[in-house]
Amino acid sequence: MSLKNLTLTDNETGKSIELPLLEGTLGNPTIDVKGIPGQLGYFTHDPSFGTTASCESRITFIDGDKGILLHRGYPIEQLAEKSNYLETAYLLIHGELPNKEQYDEFSTVIRRHTMINESLKTFFGGFRHDAHPMSMMMGVVGSLAAFYHEGLNMNDEEHLMISAHRLISKLPTIAAACYKHSIGEPIVYPRNDLEYCENLLYMMFSVPCEEYVVSPVAAKALNLLFILHADHEQNASTSTVRLVGSTGANPFACISAGIAALWGPAHGGANEGVLKMLEEIGSVENIPKFIEKAKDKNDPFRLMGFGHRVYKNFDPRATIIREVCYQVLEETGIKDPMFGLAMKLEEIALKDEYFVERKLYPNVDFYSGVIYKALGIPVSMFTVMFALARTSGWVSHWLEMMGDPDGRIGRPRQLYMGALERDYIPLEKR
Ligand code: CMC
Repeated sequence: MSLKNLTLTDNETGKSIELPLLEGTLGNPTIDVKGIPGQLGYFTHDPSFGTTASCESRITFIDGDKGILLHRGYPIEQLAEKSNYLETAYLLIHGELPNKEQYDEFSTVIRRHTMINESLKTFFGGFRHDAHPMSMMMGVVGSLAAFYHEGLNMNDEEHLMISAHRLISKLPTIAAACYKHSIGEPIVYPRNDLEYCENLLYMMFSVPCEEYVVSPVAAKALNLLFILHADHEQNASTSTVRLVGSTGANPFACISAGIAALWGPAHGGANEGVLKMLEEIGSVENIPKFIEKAKDKNDPFRLMGFGHRVYKNFDPRATIIREVCYQVLEETGIKDPMFGLAMKLEEIALKDEYFVERKLYPNVDFYSGVIYKALGIPVSMFTVMFALARTSGWVSHWLEMMGDPDGRIGRPRQLYMGALERDYIPLEKR
């Protein structure tokens, strides 16, 4: 919806253009700049997309100043308290909470697709035992495209939805297989009588020769962490999925690209980074030294789990996770010195002028690692957990984009700063 127009005038040529001001249902009004190149001959410059709305979306809303996160209008606090991961996934995909019948049907469909093709299992043998699980995830999820490509009609909504279901169903099976490969244990088949997170824990921690009972505390905590990580509007990995998807690429290739983007330490890789950082800090006396390192512009070190492009007050997900950390440690009876260290680090950083001035607060990943560790999940699998949870967000955005009748290939422009046109010089004359 257009509010009114803004006028942009080129003072040199006197040419003007009317720029429509678009109003969403929530959030900042947005200037439609599409007409500028055609009418004034300029591009807009916004490296790292700090001010650019790359698409219209109806899925998730964030107000970074107020610390608000809504999925399809529902506050994250309410979903965290009352929903479960599969219901949240349904909400993200379909736009409404399911009724009982819809929920049962969705849950049955997701359970039905949990197995992976037997020949896919042989892929794991090609990786060294110490391959990072995120590298295996990228490879194996991408290779699902080889199994689901020929019959896939990208113009058929039902085909797209089945791909979305397959992704949500099969990624936990693949993730657990990555873990099993890294510890040399047999890959465990899914059990479709278990809930989503229970099944994941079962496939990761059970062995074929013994009975295994999934801990309800672990399943509950994982379910909550998955809700908190399910979607976050146009973040780097979701934007990657959309960009790759805009070319009409196979959905499994799109999600593999999303996994690749998520792996970086500035994004989902931060949860692994936090634990490694806490281990490096070691004890409370060393905190000031690391705070100084983080402030030193000549040192690339950053406090992992601190700061966010959008949240400039607090990350509502971090507030929930912090509380859950207490509960999980209490319920599991685990006394983890890392949690105490994390709390002290948070306390010191939040009083430090550098962090206050730049509005750097703990983000969702500052505490998630402490919980994963308490659940027995190895550090190298932390970002994989994030990827599993974010899959519902990725597929929701991919479906939204694919359903947009005005959708076009994503193709940014650039401010070229390279050499001017020049003539080729033969090798012997250079
Ligand atoms: N430690 C020290 N200084 C920091 C940090 C940090 N963690 N984060 C930002 N800064 C400084 C930065 O050096 C810059 O200072 P100055 O203005 O003096 O140049 C200022 O704060 C603004 O930083 P920025 O890099 O322009 O901010 P950004 O919006 O581009 O980056 C971020 C956001 C999350 C990548 C960054 O804060 C960061 O690297 N944090 C650590 C990694 C992390 O925890 N990532 C997880 C993000 S939440 C989960 C997810 O969405 O994936």
